[in-house]
Amino acid sequence: MRFLSSLTVLFAFFLTISPAFAAGDIAAGKDGAATCMGCHGAPGIRNAYPVFRVPKLGGQQEQYLVVALKAYQSGERSHPTMQAQAGSLTDIEINNISAYFNTLAGSGTVERGGGDAEAGAAKAQACFACHGQGGSKPITPMYPILAGQYPDYLSHALSSYKSGTRNNAIMKSFAATLSDKDIDDISAYFGSQASPLSTPVNW
Ligand code: HEC
Ligand code: HEC
Repeated sequence: MRFLSSLTVLFAFFLTISPAFAAGDIAAGKDGAATCMGCHGAPGIRNAYPVFRVPKLGGQQEQYLVVALKAYQSGERSHPTMQAQAGSLTDIEINNISAYFNTLAGSGTVERGGGDAEAGAAKAQACFACHGQGGSKPITPMYPILAGQYPDYLSHALSSYKSGTRNNAIMKSFAATLSDKDIDDISAYFGSQASPLSTPVNW
């Protein structure tokens, strides 16, 4: 009981410190996203060195996309192409583009990549506390959906937290405990779970 009530207090505290979120203008976001589609609207496009598929943004949580774009602007996420792309956007453009990508949920093709999805399922239990059962329903709108994301991108993201090129205190501590095999197995598991994430083709 005492545990439950401290959880309630924590949660109330979290709600009060969450920044106000202004929902974006989807039509304006569609115009703003035109330059993004060369990569994020083209299934199969890969990043080079390291090689991984450009992440699915269609159907991703709107507030998480805002957080991600601001992390490129601040340098918490270091990726020269995306830092250049995000660097030229205003806060309003970020809100609009994020709202637009959120509407582009798709049929959600899923795949396993090179890892062992069954072994990954056991290792992924600890992740559900924040990313939701199967990685498809995060506990806050600011956390990413993992289900159905490209497994090679998920592996890259986890390795980036581990190496520090992507700086997030929560995820660094989780990624630090994972071996390269754990990373590939967990990515195979989440990549194979059904979700609305997609690389949009008709935009
Ligand atoms: C030249 C290809 C390219 C273009 C153009 C591009 N991106 Fe990206 N984007 C990437 C790659 C590669 C990544 C993964 C980078 C990393 O490892 O952090 C990425 C990552 C992202 C992420 C993080 C996704 C996640 O799950 O965390 C967001 C959000 C994003 N891009 C939005 C945009 C927006 C908005 C635009 C247009 C203004 C854009 N991108 C243009 C290649 C591109
Ligand atoms: C305490 C909450 C919490 C737990 C537990 C947690 N995560 Fe996360 N995760 C987050 C947050 C917050 C972010 C966004 C961080 C950022 O902005 O980079 C995130 C981001 C991610 C991303 C990046 C997704 C993308 O689109 O770029 C991956 C991959 C990920 N987590 C995997 C995992 C795995 C695997 C586990 C279990 C081993 C896990 N997470 C456990 C909170 C959590």
